[in-house]
Amino acid sequence: MSYNRDWQDLERGAQTSLTEQIVDRFRVAIDGGELGPGEKLPTTRALAEQAGVNHLTAVRAYRRLAEEGYVSATVGRGTFVRTVPPAAAAASTGTEWQNAVLPPDRPSYPNEMLAQSFRLPEDPELISLATGWPDPRLYPAQALKRTTARVFEELGGEALSYVNPEGSAALREQVAIRGRESGFATSAEEIVVTSGAYQAIDLVCRAIVSPGDVVVVESPTFMGMLSSLQATGARVIGVPVDGEGLDVAALERVLARHEVKLVALQTACANPTGQDMSPARRERLVELARERSFFVLEDGVYATVRFEGEDRARLRGAAPSHVVYVDSLSKTIGGGLRLGWVAASGPVRRRIATLKMSSDMHTSSLVQHVAAAYLAQDAHERHLAGTLPVYRERRDALLDSLARRLEDEVTFVRPLGGHHVWVRFATPLDERALFAEAVRQGVGFLPGGAMTAERPDETAVRLSFPLWEPERLDEAVRRLAAAVRAVRRLERGPLVAVS
Ligand SMILES: Cc1ncc(COP(=O)(O)O)c(C=O)c1O
Repeated sequence: MSYNRDWQDLERGAQTSLTEQIVDRFRVAIDGGELGPGEKLPTTRALAEQAGVNHLTAVRAYRRLAEEGYVSATVGRGTFVRTVPPAAAAASTGTEWQNAVLPPDRPSYPNEMLAQSFRLPEDPELISLATGWPDPRLYPAQALKRTTARVFEELGGEALSYVNPEGSAALREQVAIRGRESGFATSAEEIVVTSGAYQAIDLVCRAIVSPGDVVVVESPTFMGMLSSLQATGARVIGVPVDGEGLDVAALERVLARHEVKLVALQTACANPTGQDMSPARRERLVELARERSFFVLEDGVYATVRFEGEDRARLRGAAPSHVVYVDSLSKTIGGGLRLGWVAASGPVRRRIATLKMSSDMHTSSLVQHVAAAYLAQDAHERHLAGTLPVYRERRDALLDSLARRLEDEVTFVRPLGGHHVWVRFATPLDERALFAEAVRQGVGFLPGGAMTAERPDETAVRLSFPLWEPERLDEAVRRLAAAVRAVRRLERGPLVAVS
């Protein structure tokens, strides 16, 4: 319904023209809020009829209102009041006007917690078990320093030139060598270099998913995966995981009800459970992808951070046209490099490459040259082999502390790899209250609710161990146990004195 008013008050034959009078009436209505942002004005023909003026007068009035910034017209749709009309714009001295103009904000719990995981380590008193990144004291800084110097010696200024948006040839070849070994790629042509695995995930989601599509994620999963999928406007359905990875029978029930576009998962050392997908489930998933024509997004960032269990070939090798693989050097060297990649083939690869170019042209060429030279020396594999025992010791220390200090409260499964332990509470408790209390006690973690597409029916937390020595991990668990006790006391309510 468009705006309708009584135009009896127009003064015909007055000194002020009818056009000016109509414009003035609309100004008053808009400035006074009688006509709100986005409201539709009558068509020029309807206005001419209602106001008893000729059509040209109505056209002139709308043109003037548009020139003054009160309305905007879209051919075929009509004339609408602008989001921030001139009076409101003139009254705004700060930044509030931006909220009226910006698209609707969609606050997201996963995003809020992802941001927290970066903020928590800034507090030197707090032991943050919220971040899954390698210990900077173990970064291969000396080797990278020497490699960087060599890159500049050999390439000079070329090291800083633009490169192919899909990535430098040398780096793509180094990645493809690893791809052939572990099954995620057969040639450098399949590789698109990205700024970390997170950008890779984001590009893959944007390339494959349209608003309203149905996509499946593991429940729980990596928060960034949830964020990227939710940002596409897709309907995101969580499918549970257990000791054998994604519950494929539960996925089949989803497939029976929906046309699924994409299933996103980690087949090895998954974040946050640390578990692998079993061979039988992998096989069935590939069959289903072929039968139902959906894409699988396989995230392998933790697959090489393995403490035990069989290192199986990546899933992509079994169905290269259905599985799009993402990975990075973030969990094995350092996340600050922002060096990741996608392995894909066919039209989806072309679309990902185009999206990559339109997002940021290409990933830093210097970082690509250094990474290619570093990977060519086999230094990476030696570095991994040298650091894994340290992280294994930290994992074991965390598990040991949990078993001693929170025995009655929690259960957990020993992670085969990765940087996290998924800890489930036997009795639910308010995870936001626990988070706030834990930070007060000096320990950080990530609440499980930020890692599931749907509201979970149990309380769980993700604890990450790579940054801390065993004694600090034990102190962190001591503080967490104190926080749990405090929240339980609060939930029971105040003790009432009985006389
Ligand atoms: C499972 C998983 N995938 C992807 C990423 C993003 O990795 P990157 O730092 O390479 O962007 C992370 C980071 O925590 C992760 O845990």
